[in-house]
Amino acid sequence: MSRDLRDSILRWYLANRRRLPWRETRDPYAIWVSEVMLQQTRVETVVAYYERFLRTFPTVRALAKARESDVLASWSGLGYYRRARNLHAAAQLVAREHAGRLPQDPPTLRALPGIGEYTAAAIASVAFGRAAAAVDGNVIRVLSRIHGLRGTRTSLRLRRAVLERAERMAQGPRPGDWTQALMELGATVCLPREPLCGRCPASRRCAARRAGTPDRYPEPAAAVKPRAGRRLLLLARDGRRVFLVTDPDDSHATWTLPYASLDAHRPARAARALSRRYWDTDYQPEGPRAIFRHRTFSHDWTYEVWSLSVGLAGFSEARGRPPERAARAASAAQAGSAVWVGERRVHRLPVRAHTLKALKRAWK
Ligand code: ADE
Repeated sequence: MSRDLRDSILRWYLANRRRLPWRETRDPYAIWVSEVMLQQTRVETVVAYYERFLRTFPTVRALAKARESDVLASWSGLGYYRRARNLHAAAQLVAREHAGRLPQDPPTLRALPGIGEYTAAAIASVAFGRAAAAVDGNVIRVLSRIHGLRGTRTSLRLRRAVLERAERMAQGPRPGDWTQALMELGATVCLPREPLCGRCPASRRCAARRAGTPDRYPEPAAAVKPRAGRRLLLLARDGRRVFLVTDPDDSHATWTLPYASLDAHRPARAARALSRRYWDTDYQPEGPRAIFRHRTFSHDWTYEVWSLSVGLAGFSEARGRPPERAARAASAAQAGSAVWVGERRVHRLPVRAHTLKALKRAWK
């Protein structure tokens, strides 16, 4: 690797970088928060959450002292709530065992919950100016192209080859800017398809460009086709409140509308079965109120939202049981919990993305 190449990429970054709030601070805690938020979420989404989170929890100690429910409320809508739980637990460890100061070297950072190899290297370089190579999918793409390294996107062989180059390239001036320069190049120029080689500071030295096929690097991994599936979500309303349960498929760590698979049953029947499960009634939910697609890493879901009005009057007629008690009975039966919540509280709970989509479309 020539020094020239590194210098050109750095110069390009300093002249073209996006102004992002975590690039305006030197506070390691703030940089840590940004890196955790950016693990699975797009830059544009992260910006608003990042600023609000830091206003609410401005220091490691403030976060360490906070209640988990408040931390989750600040995270609500960002998804992957395990990140928030880990960040909170890690802040408590840092407060207790590191006098409130984030450790600087990658191995000690890695020992904290929620900090993997990539995030440890990103924090060490961006917050502490350590020469550490942060290699994620974007960096694999950029460096495999520049250096003409073959292999599939997920192959260990390619990862190792990239890591070796990345570690060499990490040595030199401005380690934090260098880490972010590679990220920025991957995010804005060296795109997976149709890379903007005309704008790339490395294009003259890029092996993939010379070969005429930059988008063939890295080679696509054998496609894992998300499995198609159909589910029904039951939107039960009591006046202005909706009924949420903890998700058994997520170890009861997040909240969801009650749902059922539609693989074996027709929607009307599945909806009735859910209503019976939670309230022991024969109400017939109505629907579909909305139908939408929701893709996850492993599935391509089609959701049908069916709705049910279960006012207190309805309950006293049917069972004489107010919704709270019915909900509690349900939770006891399932080792999960259930709540009736109004709109404000929904946004303070870690709620599954499919449920937020359903509420947006069908809760009026
Ligand atoms: N993705 C991960 N870390 C990032 C950062 N610091 N800036 C922009 N995108 C990122």
